[in-house]
Amino acid sequence: MEENREQWSSKMGFIIAAIGSAVGLGNIWRFPYVVYSNGGGAFLIPYFVAIFTAGIPLLILEYGVGHKYRGSTPLSLFRINKKFEWMGWWPIISSGIILCYYSLVLSMAMKYLTLSFTKGWGVDSNSYFYNDFLNISSSPFDFKGINSHVLVGIIAIWMINWFICYKGIKSGIEKYNKILLPCLLIIVMIIVIRGVTLEGATLGLNTLFTPDWSKLKNPKVWIAAYGQVFFSLSVGTGIMMTYSSYLPKKTDINNSAFMTAFANCSFEFICAIGVFSILGVMAFSSGVPVNEVVSSGIGLAFIAFPKVFSLMGIWGNILGVLFFMCLTFAGITSAVSLVEAISAAIVDKFNIERKIVVTRISICGFLLSIIFATNSGLYILDIMDNFINNYGIVSVGLLESFVIGWYLNADIIRNHTNSISYIRIGSWWNIIIKYITPLFLFLILIQSIFNEFKAPYGGYSGWALTVYGWIIILIGILGAIILSKKTWKSN
Ligand code: PHE
Repeated sequence: MEENREQWSSKMGFIIAAIGSAVGLGNIWRFPYVVYSNGGGAFLIPYFVAIFTAGIPLLILEYGVGHKYRGSTPLSLFRINKKFEWMGWWPIISSGIILCYYSLVLSMAMKYLTLSFTKGWGVDSNSYFYNDFLNISSSPFDFKGINSHVLVGIIAIWMINWFICYKGIKSGIEKYNKILLPCLLIIVMIIVIRGVTLEGATLGLNTLFTPDWSKLKNPKVWIAAYGQVFFSLSVGTGIMMTYSSYLPKKTDINNSAFMTAFANCSFEFICAIGVFSILGVMAFSSGVPVNEVVSSGIGLAFIAFPKVFSLMGIWGNILGVLFFMCLTFAGITSAVSLVEAISAAIVDKFNIERKIVVTRISICGFLLSIIFATNSGLYILDIMDNFINNYGIVSVGLLESFVIGWYLNADIIRNHTNSISYIRIGSWWNIIIKYITPLFLFLILIQSIFNEFKAPYGGYSGWALTVYGWIIILIGILGAIILSKKTWKSN
């Protein structure tokens, strides 16, 4: 199996694909808001602490493990010790769930891309989004029916996922990342340059970066920083291990980890500047303070931004098209990485041909995504996203640092990556992986659970949070244990 494992055509190809996975919707619509609402400029302190105490060390860990054991996440962990195999399946199941709701977001982005040519959302972007487009129901269990516009987009996304992954590592994932990522960068640069030169932009930028140091005392701010870094670097989902398993034997792992993190970080900052300058424009022209026009995620992309574009004349059309193209491209490269993490695991475990696996995953994934095309899809997305990010991914990071730091001995991975890398990692890495990362992640987990009970997420009913939140986490763990009990069909 090792001998015929497909490979990237070059280290650059791998790094581009890894950046493609890391750079996603999180950079564009999540980061700007997270910075703003967690202390603005002051947030940069927890953010960089999180990057250096969890982001980069875990990236090195995941790259190192995937490369040394040359397998998908479950296979790599199995090779460390078979009792850890389940820890490799949990992120794979989480990835599957992320992928399904990601397809809803991508479907909406594509729909808005088509609308943006004519600003088809009309004058009231809020009402258009919730009523005319989504026709959203009253609660997470009130499915009403299937929204055909959303469904068409979901079908398209799964076809794109299927097409890119079906073609394989080199001529599929690598090739399309090499096209989409540079396009993404150019588009973002155009948006930012245009954005900061518009009247009112500084208003937005001041709001974004004005530091509120008092926020640093709030543990929630630190949790937000770790959460953002985790989600943004795509660690804890099995992607990075899988991607690095396709690297040639001799390749610079440490350098790749720094480059991925650096590129992702820079991209996040550029996006934040673009987003807030445009929000500043809106605040300026409608005469309300920036904090009244700002929002995150869905609200930013599908309500606030369309509104700004409507205010702008021809530049509104241009920026609108570019912005939704940006979301679509960034989302596709991340979605593809999720499909790859899942298919690699199944190929390794059941020894089925890759193309067949990709096809089956795409069909099953599409069928599961249909729930997000119902009129309550957006609620379900919101709940699942919160639980998977706060509990699923963070727990996997915690378990990984335990297994490598305590069970395996961090030196084994560090010596491996050092032996092939130009930059050598010092023993500080062991200390981080053994003590600091697990400590922080543990605190975050406890805090999140505590907050969850104190103030249940998003004001949803306990029942909805149980079904779409806790049960999803439980399915991840139980499913992982069940899968790990099955015998390996491959050698
Ligand atoms: N890293 C991606 C982002 O920033 C999100 C993502 C997380 C993608 C996990 C795949 C897996 O948006």
